[in-house]
Amino acid sequence: MSKEATNPALDDDEHVVARSDELDEGERIIALLDGKEIGVFNIGGEFHAYPNWCAHQGGPLCEGMLSGTIEGEYDRDELETELEWCREGEILSCPWHGWEFDATTGECLVDKGCRLRSIPVRAEDGNVIVTL
Ligand code: FES
Repeated sequence: MSKEATNPALDDDEHVVARSDELDEGERIIALLDGKEIGVFNIGGEFHAYPNWCAHQGGPLCEGMLSGTIEGEYDRDELETELEWCREGEILSCPWHGWEFDATTGECLVDKGCRLRSIPVRAEDGNVIVTL
């Protein structure tokens, strides 16, 4: 008898959104769950989920570009600026006005007081499961 991955018994608030092997690193899906669009990302082999709703003005954040960001160091004495591209594949940019969010934590890079609501997501028995 062969062993096959099966859907785990799910609670009412749990939803299978994909097979784990369908969502490679750097990929995302946007699932419609209970009338809400939820973006699920595989970043470095870990899954993260957020509402497809930007904390700035409600744009479709999870449809934005997933890339990196620029960090700068400023030497006020020498009046020099050093810029560096970093965090490639971890920063989500909203398609409306470009606000950047750390897709691994939900932290907004533009406004440190702003953070996305993280939605619990896990891989289990070959499935990616979101809990709303
Ligand atoms: S709505 Fe997302 S940056 Fe403005």
